[in-house]
Amino acid sequence: MKYLLSPSLLSLDFTKAGEQIKAADEAGADWTHFDVMDGQFVPSISFGMPVLKSFRKATDRPFDVHLMIEEPENYIQAFAEAGANRITVHAEATRHLDRTLHQIREVGCEAGVALNPSTPIENVEYVLELADMVLQMTVNPGFGGQKFIPYCLEKIEALRTLIDEKGCNTDIQVDGGVNRNNIREILDAGANIIVAGNAVFLGDVVENVQYFKQILNEYQDGL
Ligand code: DX5
Ligand code: ZN
Repeated sequence: MKYLLSPSLLSLDFTKAGEQIKAADEAGADWTHFDVMDGQFVPSISFGMPVLKSFRKATDRPFDVHLMIEEPENYIQAFAEAGANRITVHAEATRHLDRTLHQIREVGCEAGVALNPSTPIENVEYVLELADMVLQMTVNPGFGGQKFIPYCLEKIEALRTLIDEKGCNTDIQVDGGVNRNNIREILDAGANIIVAGNAVFLGDVVENVQYFKQILNEYQDGL
C-alpha cells in the first residue's frame, strides 16, 4: 500500500497557479486533486474540463479528479479526454454505481467512489472489487477550508476492516479538513491517500508539502 499526498487545487491562489503547482511538485507531492462542482450536487461551482486540460500541462503528476456533480456518468469520457488519471464519482450522485465504475475503467482511467460523511459504508461494499479507491469525505463536500468531522474517523476504520476482510487492495482517500493536528489519527484509522487544500496552499507550499510527506513516508516505512 502506498501512502500519498494529493494537494487540492481548489485552494490554489489562481493568480499564481503555475508557480504553486510547480512548488508542490518540487516539494514531492504525489498526485493533483482536482475538485469539480456543479452547483447541484454541492452548493458551489468550481471548474471543469478546459481548466483540467490547461493544468495538465503544468505538471506530470497524475490527476485525481473528484466529481462532485449529479449524474457523473455523463462526463466520464470528457474528463478522461481532458487528462484525468483517476476519476472518483459520488455513490450518492449516480443511480447505477456499478455501471459508472465500469465506464471509468473502459475509458482507461482508475476508478474511485466517494462517500459523504453521513453515507453508510455498506453502500460501496459490493463494488469494492471495481474500485481502485474509496474517497471518504470528512467534511460536507462543496468548499475548502472546513472543519474535519470527527465521527468520520470511525468510518475510515470500518472501511479499512471491510476492505481487508474482502481481500481487496483498495486505497482509502480522505478529503476535507486534513491538517497537521489530525493527519496521524487519519492514517492510524487506515487511510493511505491524503487530500489537503488549505493545509497545503495557504502559507509556504514547499514547507507544507514537505511536512505532510515526511509523515506519509514514516507510515510508508512502517514506523
Ligand atoms: C471539498 C473538496 C476538497 C477540498 C479540501 O468539497 O472535495 O477536496 O478542496 O480542502 P481542505 O483540505 O481545505 O478542507
Ligand atoms: Zn475533493
